[in-house]
Amino acid sequence: MFRAVLALACSTAVGLAVIFSANANSASAQAIDKDRPDTTANLATAADPRRVVGNDACSKCHAAEMSVWDSTAHATTFNQLHRTPAAKQIASKLGLRSIKHSGRCVECHYTQQASHTTAPSTTPVAADAATNVIAGVSCESCHGAAKDWLDIHQDYGGANVTRLTESPAHRSDRLRRSIDAGMRNPANVYLVAQSCLRCHTTNDEQLVNVGGHSAGSLDFEFVAWSQGAIRHNFVRSDGSSNAASSVERLRVMFVAGMIAELEASLRATASATEKATFGLTAAQRTYRAAKRLISVTDKVDVDELDEIVAIAAGARLKLNNQHELIDAANRIARLGIQFADANDGSQLAALDTYLPPVTH
Ligand code: HEC
Ligand code: HEC
Ligand code: HEC
Ligand code: HEC
Repeated sequence: MFRAVLALACSTAVGLAVIFSANANSASAQAIDKDRPDTTANLATAADPRRVVGNDACSKCHAAEMSVWDSTAHATTFNQLHRTPAAKQIASKLGLRSIKHSGRCVECHYTQQASHTTAPSTTPVAADAATNVIAGVSCESCHGAAKDWLDIHQDYGGANVTRLTESPAHRSDRLRRSIDAGMRNPANVYLVAQSCLRCHTTNDEQLVNVGGHSAGSLDFEFVAWSQGAIRHNFVRSDGSSNAASSVERLRVMFVAGMIAELEASLRATASATEKATFGLTAAQRTYRAAKRLISVTDKVDVDELDEIVAIAAGARLKLNNQHELIDAANRIARLGIQFADANDGSQLAALDTYLPPVTH
């Protein structure tokens, strides 16, 4: 299996072009489809407007996190993006009248909220409720729309119980229930890495090939991009400092970021229908991510990584190969979550010399 991936890894843009002229929906892709119904349970998506509570609902308990977030590009894009000539040009090439109100930009640049959901409640909001754009990339863009998990995640188990006196069993049950309710809880770093790579990998072919938008943040790296300006780790020190993650945690984040990049770029490649910038970039990024993971498997012994590399080796990066590539991405997503659950980083010390410096 390594040989197969390495053969791909050696390909140049020319090699990719050959793959890209290959035929559409293959018999084997259809067989996979039939045997394994698609599950999107782990898919990172834009926060569901009907479940978004808004940053104001976080600030009474997370004021320090809010003030860090306020000065990041994620927050400031809200007032700036629609005014930039570059954004106007993309919108005009795509024939969009509004940037803030076009679903195509909102997915990654903004947070939307359905009307009448300012407070978490059990009342369902109609599917066709009107929506408002309330922020740029907000807390819930990365941690998941909070309506269903807000109460769960901060309940230590009674009025007199604190962070320090919560039982380990209650804690693990609370974290699990918050995730089941849709929280992208950093207790499992893969869930947040998936959020980053969903937006930092462009998944819309026309946006790139017609609109001229970048095909994604090609130099994105989870550790380098999460430990600088956007870092807001106050909870772990009970609010006393904004702590860098431990080296053990950084090792797990480093690998989780690579897996999430492979997952996201497979999804992007899956939507490629024409041989142009979008598809070529997505396929090259997929190769690169697979290659990096192969070199990780040379250094550490982790079952999930061997499986992920094997799945990548079996996925043919060609046009109109949606079913096969989405299936591979879904399987990798499940393994990524499993990897982050099962590894505390203590077995990954061999990666220390490769941990990137903080750049953003
Ligand atoms: C009523 C207070 C309160 C509100 C409101 C609140 N949180 Fe929290 N949050 C907490 C507490 C307490 C913790 C620490 C839990 C722990 O010790 O693990 C926490 C932890 C977290 C964590 C770390 C993961 C975890 O489960 O420990 C994230 C992420 C988080 N909150 C996000 C949010 C977001 C996003 C919002 C708004 C949608 C929000 N919180 C609203 C009290 C709150
Ligand atoms: C898949 C997610 C995604 C979608 C959809 C998307 N963007 Fe972006 N966009 C990004 C990311 C991530 C960046 C950050 C730049 C980078 O690293 O490439 C960005 C950067 C930009 C920039 C350059 C940076 C800046 O702020 O000046 C412009 C302009 C832009 N986007 C406009 C748009 C417009 C207009 C739309 C809708 C037609 C759109 N984007 C849709 C993810 C997306
Ligand atoms: C909802 C989509 C979305 C998510 C989720 C997201 N980003 Fe971003 N990010 C963007 C966009 C859009 C920009 C560009 C904003 C602009 O400049 O207008 C950006 C910009 C950034 C920047 C500043 C880039 C620079 O050149 O200085 C950093 C750093 C960053 N993101 C890191 C992350 C990390 C780390 C994660 C995950 C923990 C993440 N982002 C999750 C959409 C997103
Ligand atoms: C760009 C994506 C992104 C955004 C936006 C974001 N977070 Fe986070 N958050 C993360 C990541 C990634 C981590 C884990 C970082 C680490 O472990 O070093 C995290 C960790 C946390 C933690 C746990 C910190 C600890 O000490 O363990 C809390 C609490 C939290 N976020 C709350 C918030 C709140 C509240 C907001 C909005 C003001 C917010 N986050 C916005 C990505 C994001």
